[in-house]
Amino acid sequence: MSEKIELSIEEANGLIEEFGSPLYVYDEEILRRRCREVKGLLGYKRFVPDYSAKANSNLELLRIIHEEGFTVDAMSPGEIYTELRAGFDPSEILFVSNNITFDEMELASRLGVDISLDSLMQLKMYGEHHRGGRCAVRLNPGIGDGGNDKIITGGHSKFGITLDKLPQLFSIIRDYDLHIIGINQHIGSLFYDTDNYVSACRRLLSVAKDFPELRFIDFGGGFGIPYRYRHPEERPDLHEIGALMDELITDFMNAYGREIDVKVEPGRYIVGECCQLLGTVTSTKVSYGEKYVGTDIGFNVLMRPVLYDAYHYIAVYNHEDKEETVNLVGNICESGDILARQRRLPKLHIGDIIGIRDTGAYGYSMSSNYNSRLRPAEVLLDRSTGKRKLIRRRDTYEDLLRSMEL
Ligand code: LLP
Repeated sequence: MSEKIELSIEEANGLIEEFGSPLYVYDEEILRRRCREVKGLLGYKRFVPDYSAKANSNLELLRIIHEEGFTVDAMSPGEIYTELRAGFDPSEILFVSNNITFDEMELASRLGVDISLDSLMQLKMYGEHHRGGRCAVRLNPGIGDGGNDKIITGGHSKFGITLDKLPQLFSIIRDYDLHIIGINQHIGSLFYDTDNYVSACRRLLSVAKDFPELRFIDFGGGFGIPYRYRHPEERPDLHEIGALMDELITDFMNAYGREIDVKVEPGRYIVGECCQLLGTVTSTKVSYGEKYVGTDIGFNVLMRPVLYDAYHYIAVYNHEDKEETVNLVGNICESGDILARQRRLPKLHIGDIIGIRDTGAYGYSMSSNYNSRLRPAEVLLDRSTGKRKLIRRRDTYEDLLRSMEL
């Protein structure tokens, strides 16, 4: 069984013919397999994995992930709205907020969604209006990890309440008679090494004992996936992480005197690898001695390469034997609109289909209408029946104007 979605040349061409280009294509079987792997992370029986929906909030994918037994986190009222529509109960949603307005706080409360607050000031604001209320807090354990500076959140970053502020935190809790039902952290996204994650778990547990009313502890997400298909980008060993965490959790629960829920909240690990973004070669040229291959995948469709210099493996669906070194670029009016620089690929011709791999996480969810380009459609494949299901239609030109036609 493949770890990544595989397509034949015929399938890739057929999909583009039927649904248009570019196109996000997901494999349901791989998605479900990743869900089950994460569900098996801990032996601890009150383990309740959350899916971090910012990675991909397509309704159909959310429904599948829910069916696989996941609860979910939300970053915004919009994510809460989508998750409720996907069938999650309010009690299955954790609003992991960051710099939200009072109205957003109130909306979550009204809906019955638990909220985690990530600064002393926001906790105070909550307390002023909800004396005796219950909420969670996001702590910053001072340990960070991740793929690049923009997505490392533990340690020096805007996130969470640092541990040196615990005395002030406890005094706000006392002042407003708050009940802290959960503590959470997220050290960053896209880490491969297990050490920092496990050390941060240990650190969170070391302060958890000071919160007597906890219902859950949430260690966050961030588990990397192999984008480069080679060392050091290897899949984190979930068995190793799980075994180490289980040990820490058992010791903690014994000392705490009762068992509470334990969560993690991965996004990328769940949805990243089940997807390929298909696109079409639109033109080629040589400029300044370099070959440029133009495609219809601009950075409005896939932002990761431009924003993070992210590497994605590129599959080429033609029968070409010759290879050449090219810059694979999009159709957006900016010089930075480059999917892959100086990449060795089979020779590409106009009309060839390419597949950008591992684009299920932070692909569609970060897409935009920049340059008034249309966002693509999304299709879900069920390999067992051969069914192809359109799970989001392509934008239309009317969609571009809808919110301005007042
Ligand atoms: N929990 C919290 C509080 C988070 O902020 C995040 C991600 C997650 C969980 C899920 O992290 P994951 O397991 O997916 O790594 N756009 C970037 C990634 C941004 C991650 C933001 N927060 C990228 O394309 O690499």
